Amino acid sequence: KQMEKIKFTLNGKAVEMPLDQNQSLLWALRTHFNLTGTKYGCGMGYCGACTVLMDDEPVRSCGIYMEDVAGRKITTIEGIAVGEKLHPVQQAFVDHDALQCGYCTPGMIMNAVGLLLKNPDPTREEIINGMEDNYCRCGAHTRIVDAIEEAAAKMKR
Ligand code: FES
Repeated sequence: KQMEKIKFTLNGKAVEMPLDQNQSLLWALRTHFNLTGTKYGCGMGYCGACTVLMDDEPVRSCGIYMEDVAGRKITTIEGIAVGEKLHPVQQAFVDHDALQCGYCTPGMIMNAVGLLLKNPDPTREEIINGMEDNYCRCGAHTRIVDAIEEAAAKMKR
């Protein structure tokens, strides 16, 4: 029996893959497309390590099934730099040392990129609230918020 295919846009390119109803977007990204920047943390929607953008909204890819991805636009950490030039949020994370082990970083950055798409001029309070459901076990939160504040200021210029 021929397997149904689903088509969607991944980091700006049209892609397709055989539909496996039980496969999460997280595993499709990591195994089918080899995009391992998106991380598996809890697998239950709590930690945010697996955050990607779906139609410019941050979503937790561990809880999204491939049938719901058909026709959508997915953006991962691999898709936000332009050539060699890092996205301003990526650059600010580097400049502020906004990580320790780095495991939560791609999810943090994608959540922040989504936050700034929705609210390009957030207060520090709004950044803290917007990032509070992404967990960093190393305790880099203050530097993460600093980085996002600076990225927001730079992106406005
Ligand atoms: Fe998806 Fe933790 S791995 S939220």
